[in-house]
Amino acid sequence: MKKFNIKINGKKYSAELGETILVVARKNKIDIPALCYHPDFPAKGNCRVCVVEIKGAKKLVPACATFVSPDMEIFTDSEKVKKERNMNLELIFAEHIEKCPDCVWRFECPLLDYVKRYNLKMTRFRDRKGERKTYKFQNAVEIDGSQCIDCGNCIDACALQQDINFLKFKGKGYQQEVVPRQKEGFKCILCGQCALHCPVSAAQEQVQVDKVEKILKAKKKNTPHPDGHPSREGKILVAQFAPSVRVTIGEDFGMPYGKDTADKITASLKKLGFDYVFDINFGADLTTIVEANELLERVGKKGSKMPMFTSCCPGWVNYVELYHPELIPNLTTSRSPHIHLAGIVKTYWAKKMKIKPEDIELVSIMPCTAKKYEAIRPEMKIGKNFPIDYVLTTRELSFLFKKNNLDLKTIKPQKADNPMGEYSGAASLFGGSGGVMESALRTAAYFACGPKAKLCSGKIDYNETRGLAGIKEAVVDIAGTKLRIAIVNGIGNINPVIANLKNYDYIEVMACPGGCIGGGGQPIPTTDEIRQKRIQALYEIDFKNKIRKSYENKGVIEILDWVNKNKLESKVLHTKYNKKRTQ
Ligand code: SF4
Ligand code: SF4
Ligand code: SF4
Ligand code: FES
Repeated sequence: MKKFNIKINGKKYSAELGETILVVARKNKIDIPALCYHPDFPAKGNCRVCVVEIKGAKKLVPACATFVSPDMEIFTDSEKVKKERNMNLELIFAEHIEKCPDCVWRFECPLLDYVKRYNLKMTRFRDRKGERKTYKFQNAVEIDGSQCIDCGNCIDACALQQDINFLKFKGKGYQQEVVPRQKEGFKCILCGQCALHCPVSAAQEQVQVDKVEKILKAKKKNTPHPDGHPSREGKILVAQFAPSVRVTIGEDFGMPYGKDTADKITASLKKLGFDYVFDINFGADLTTIVEANELLERVGKKGSKMPMFTSCCPGWVNYVELYHPELIPNLTTSRSPHIHLAGIVKTYWAKKMKIKPEDIELVSIMPCTAKKYEAIRPEMKIGKNFPIDYVLTTRELSFLFKKNNLDLKTIKPQKADNPMGEYSGAASLFGGSGGVMESALRTAAYFACGPKAKLCSGKIDYNETRGLAGIKEAVVDIAGTKLRIAIVNGIGNINPVIANLKNYDYIEVMACPGGCIGGGGQPIPTTDEIRQKRIQALYEIDFKNKIRKSYENKGVIEILDWVNKNKLESKVLHTKYNKKRTQ
């Protein structure tokens, strides 16, 4: 690529043809404010918060949408820039009805940050969007028109990245708003990628923080439990957190990308008032064993529905139910890791602890907006009870910690509770694209070997499943059987795979690019560079683990025996899905 020099604020920098002013500035740690720009999409130049002055040019230009050229001289903070940028920010505030006191985004909000940094008046212009509607998609995602600044990122995320096209702009100028396209036959899969790309939290998860705060508050008022349980007359509060959350939440506390904060999450949840904290990695080991068994059963049985698809991503399950119901029989019947673990908490563990399942309130911390909906699906119920009572995203948990002055950086780590504390390295892989497949292959290969298992359990790393390519394909040897696998990384890449189903035996689909480390509930920003660092951290957790295969998790094997003896397989381990017309 052709290199040349440019000047920014009087200092020389090297730049390449094809780079924008914003990219060169960020590479050199020169701060230019930006709202609508996201490296996942082509720059739209909508918000004009990033305006800069170019020597010799009459008008200011948006740094995110202007390419550098040789000898360009740029000023990022001239009087002209300050005046226009500040005016644009104040106008944006007139589009964004401030709901800061209730907003879970308020500790991270770039808009608030700019207001403070540039000493702006938030209320100089009349609010223009007070009357706008809030569109809610199931219990998972919402778009609040009164906070929307018309950047278009949600529309790009849904159309360009996810290929779902559920959102569009309606109207022009002051009348413009983002609206869903149900009436045109489009359906939302609840992946939350619109929220992940919204700079001002107008598109966001449907927040359950207030409900969780209520149960924590109620607990504090209760007297100690007569049987010696740590809390209450009433409820036992349990939290569980997903494989990917440990390598992402640290970012919200200024820690390096990919830092493993599992033990700090546990300590902070305990400080908040949860009686027990479990690690969903245990659930991922259980899911692996259930799924690997089903795979081998299907592969060996004539007439079974093939290829088999993973189903632990509810965004993907929603997609199948809404757009390809003919593939429902191809989904594994295995429940997902957080539903599995919660089910075990409310059956096996409840019995062991002599607690009534209805006395347990269980909060699941997930990277995902679609998991909020998965948790309330009636088919997940065990008897009268839902396994999970509330789902918080990673972002909601960061908010809750910050609101309660809990800093992950400084808190003393604490291990998750046992039993259900041990996990294999394979379980951590569930947090990234290819991880469910790799974990299932490790265990399926061992099970398929039967009595010779010890001889053929050698292969651990299935490198073919790793990385951030949109579609990953391979043929792997499972005890002499050639298994044709595919991994779809991001629902936007699904079509070529669905068009060629006969080429595969086993397919993993994760709706979000990168898998759950890039989930709709993860910290913002999430970019390819960040996804790479997060997924790498999962590979390292796996590599360092003493046990790296799910079947080596003795606790899981013991609990599966208990489930089988109590004939709870269909209630706790498996589920089913149904065709849906609309979301
Ligand atoms: S949740 Fe996903 S499918 Fe629904 S509008 Fe947002 S990006 Fe589109
Ligand atoms: S909802 Fe958010 S991402 Fe979508 S246009 Fe409005 S501000 Fe932009
Ligand atoms: S990839 Fe993960 S975060 Fe995204 S929808 Fe699926 S389960 Fe949720
Ligand atoms: S960030 Fe450049 S125009 Fe919005």
